[in-house]
Amino acid sequence: MKRIGVLTSGGDAPGMNAAVRAVVRCGLDRGMEVYGIQRGYEGLIEGAIKEMDMSSVGDILHRGGTILRTARSERFKTEEGQKHALNVLSAFGIEGLVVIGGDGSLRGGLELSQRGITVMGLPGTIDNDLGYTDYTIGFDTAVNTVLSAVTNIRDTSSSHERATVIEVMGRHCGDIALYAGLTGGADNILVPEMPFDINKVCKKIIQGKNRGKMHDIIMKAEGVGVDAKELAQMVEERTGKETRVVILAYLQRGGSPTAKDRMLASQTASKAVELLYDDEDSKAIGICGSEIVAYDLEEALSIKRPFDTDLYHLADVLSK
Ligand code: ADP
Ligand code: F6P
Repeated sequence: MKRIGVLTSGGDAPGMNAAVRAVVRCGLDRGMEVYGIQRGYEGLIEGAIKEMDMSSVGDILHRGGTILRTARSERFKTEEGQKHALNVLSAFGIEGLVVIGGDGSLRGGLELSQRGITVMGLPGTIDNDLGYTDYTIGFDTAVNTVLSAVTNIRDTSSSHERATVIEVMGRHCGDIALYAGLTGGADNILVPEMPFDINKVCKKIIQGKNRGKMHDIIMKAEGVGVDAKELAQMVEERTGKETRVVILAYLQRGGSPTAKDRMLASQTASKAVELLYDDEDSKAIGICGSEIVAYDLEEALSIKRPFDTDLYHLADVLSK
């Protein structure tokens, strides 16, 4: 394979730039031509494509966001949009594509691969919601960003003897809440994978109050079916504890990627280029333990992500 393309799609994630850099530099190292596609599938349909060289990915390793920019494309979800995208790839002579994005983006990649182009998928999302990989690019940075916020909030929460509901991202996957909650010492962690029980939440707050606990952190993933403000009100009414709300939202999606995310991005991107160079079929690349793994793309997307109930119970024990 001589000419390959790379795009970032869906919600951005810290480490996407490190992945783009590695795709370009590993591709050039193997004598390939690498084309950067702007704004995900939307830019692909529009033909917003430029050849990349060593210096077009210079000085981006440490930056959050994505220099290729990203988009959600409704047009691409249609058969017409996908056929158009394939025509554009063929017009540019692009024989293989690296897609960096979450579940939706990789499903888009699968559609393309079923129409004849080789696609290598890299897990680029803060959500950590892909079943075939232990971790996704951006997750570690997002968890550390949330952790830093929790640390600050604990200070003021203790001073005022308040409870604070902190809402973090995760529509279907509670991993950000779980990891940042456990490492930040949250008293309650609410995730979409576990049933929400207001009585359990309040019981724990009252228990804490009775043993002289100053602060209470309720870490809630956005996908839990209760509004953060309503939750704070319920807690206040039932426990008598003044309760505030912090919704971290997009703060979690930006920032300089951690070493772990840069490493995951660089290693998975290098693997993607190697597989394209070797003319392998479409794959999803991720990490299992400390090993970089590649699964058949369709098979990878059929793997359901298991929720780590052991970690969830450990967090509960540690915050009793
Ligand atoms: P993420 O990749 O972060 O999960 P989205 O779910 O929004 O983000 O997906 C990003 C883009 O991928 C969508 O805007 C769409 O263009 C494309 N996409 C998502 N799901 C599919 C699908 N089932 N088939 C084809 N394309 C899809
Ligand atoms: O990237 C995934 C994610 O961060 C989700 O956790 C969140 O619900 C969603 O993206 C919001 O993204 P946007 O508002 O950009 O569509």
